Amino acid sequence: MKGYAKIAPYYDRFVNDDFYKTLLSYLSGKVIPLHGSNFLDLGTGTGFFPIYYAKLGMRSVGIDKDKEMIEIAKGRVKDEELDNIEFIHHNILSFKTNERFSYVTMFFDVLNHFHTASDISKLFSNVHEHLEDGGFFIFDILSQWGMKKMWGNDKFYEYYDDFKILWVSQWDSSKQCLTVTMKIFSGKQVIKETFIEKAYQRKTIEEKLADAGFELQGVTPLFFFKRRPSRYLFHVKKI
Ligand SMILES: C[S@@+](CC[C@H](N)C(=O)[O-])C[C@H]1O[C@@H](n2cnc3c(N)ncnc32)[C@H](O)[C@@H]1O
Repeated sequence: MKGYAKIAPYYDRFVNDDFYKTLLSYLSGKVIPLHGSNFLDLGTGTGFFPIYYAKLGMRSVGIDKDKEMIEIAKGRVKDEELDNIEFIHHNILSFKTNERFSYVTMFFDVLNHFHTASDISKLFSNVHEHLEDGGFFIFDILSQWGMKKMWGNDKFYEYYDDFKILWVSQWDSSKQCLTVTMKIFSGKQVIKETFIEKAYQRKTIEEKLADAGFELQGVTPLFFFKRRPSRYLFHVKKI
């Protein structure tokens, strides 16, 4: 099975907290000033961002194509008294609702999960349709440098109290694709999952955004590994 289904129960344990902290410090204040009426997070995973914004009082919606991730997101809010949050199991490309949002976000390589330029165009036009006029779309991409040098061809273990993960990565420069296989060893269980992420040039993304009717507000490089940006954060406005 491809996707996050099998690894969903481990996701919140191995995901890098620094990533969320860095993003929240970027978003709070100017980028998402909490004046908007509602917030939509695409590829929401276990719902970190919608939960954060719902707690601050915004109506928040999270969408993900993996049912198991959505179930975990729902479980995280089960005991909270939040009536302004919704999690929807759906593919981003075909998702449709009459609601229009002030902010749409999409974080942690979600864009790199789309492997063709035509899917990127579809994705951007669907986001455009679901934003209110003047609304903002904020998302990140893992850069080509991040794929090639930070991951590259590598193999390493990560250790947790009750499980360990073997990460194996392969960079294919002809296809501009990074394949990451993770094996989780938990007691007697071994869970294996493979992800293929596609590298896009910043310029390609900017052109597709303009074609879809977005105006670029800024592109912020993120330096988790100091020497070069491993990620770029795009901040665009619906025009
Ligand atoms: C690396 S996780 C990021 C999760 C979350 N955004 C976060 O910051 O923790 C990527 C997520 O994107 C979701 N995803 C990938 N392609 C998708 C699609 N076409 N439609 C909906 N969700 C998708 C996956 O199921 C997965 O939960």
